[in-house]
Amino acid sequence: MTRLLINIDHVATLRNARRETFPDPIAAARECLAGGAHGIVFHLREDRRHITDEDVRRLKSELDAKLDFELSTAEEIVSICIATQPELATLVPERREEVTTEGGLDVIANRNRLESVIPRLFDAGIAEVALFVDPDLDQIDACAASGANGIELHTGDYANASNWEERQYVLGRMAAAAERAHQNGLRVHAGHGLDLNNYPDFGAAVPHLYEVSIGFAVIARALFKGIRTSVSEMKQIVESTTYVN
Ligand code: PXP
Repeated sequence: MTRLLINIDHVATLRNARRETFPDPIAAARECLAGGAHGIVFHLREDRRHITDEDVRRLKSELDAKLDFELSTAEEIVSICIATQPELATLVPERREEVTTEGGLDVIANRNRLESVIPRLFDAGIAEVALFVDPDLDQIDACAASGANGIELHTGDYANASNWEERQYVLGRMAAAAERAHQNGLRVHAGHGLDLNNYPDFGAAVPHLYEVSIGFAVIARALFKGIRTSVSEMKQIVESTTYVN
């Protein structure tokens, strides 16, 4: 069964909008876990627009849960990730002017930097290192060559597809990319823009999904339903969706 990780960046975004101390992302993470999440995802951005260094320290020291630390390859952030020792480190591209992560990593173009960062993450005791990539077979092969042991498929193109044909086309690419990653021995994660409505078709079409990382839709729905209910509803959809060959 596919596992559900919840991204809590948006709780920090709300807190920071008023330069307040609440809502507390760590308290929100506890609610996510109480709702059945298998782990917590956060992105320590170079500009610290949501999650802060102190949040990271508290997530590590106060929670007994799988942590997925999303990071760019900027040296400062890599050092914090190494010191934090999350179970999973997911390398993502980062541009200061973007509203949210746009597009996957270009693993081929960034090969040298990735090949220097990835072994350091493993050497620090981090068990899983995944690369956030678009469903491109050459990129998937480059992930395997980079030394990472997982990928996170960028599902934004699926979530944003404007019509049925486009959606089916993107799903085909996602399924092929997941299959290729699996053949290369890479663990398959996925995320970006997934929600209660679009998940069933996605989960039924894409094989080998070990974990999905969902943030915005679950946290937004929590305003009306509460975090526990929002998480448990999403989990129910994720767990009841099975890949159909
Ligand atoms: N995975 C990665 C690498 C991301 O950058 C994001 C966005 O923060 C997500 C998953 C979750 O996307 P969303 O918030 O749209 O569910």
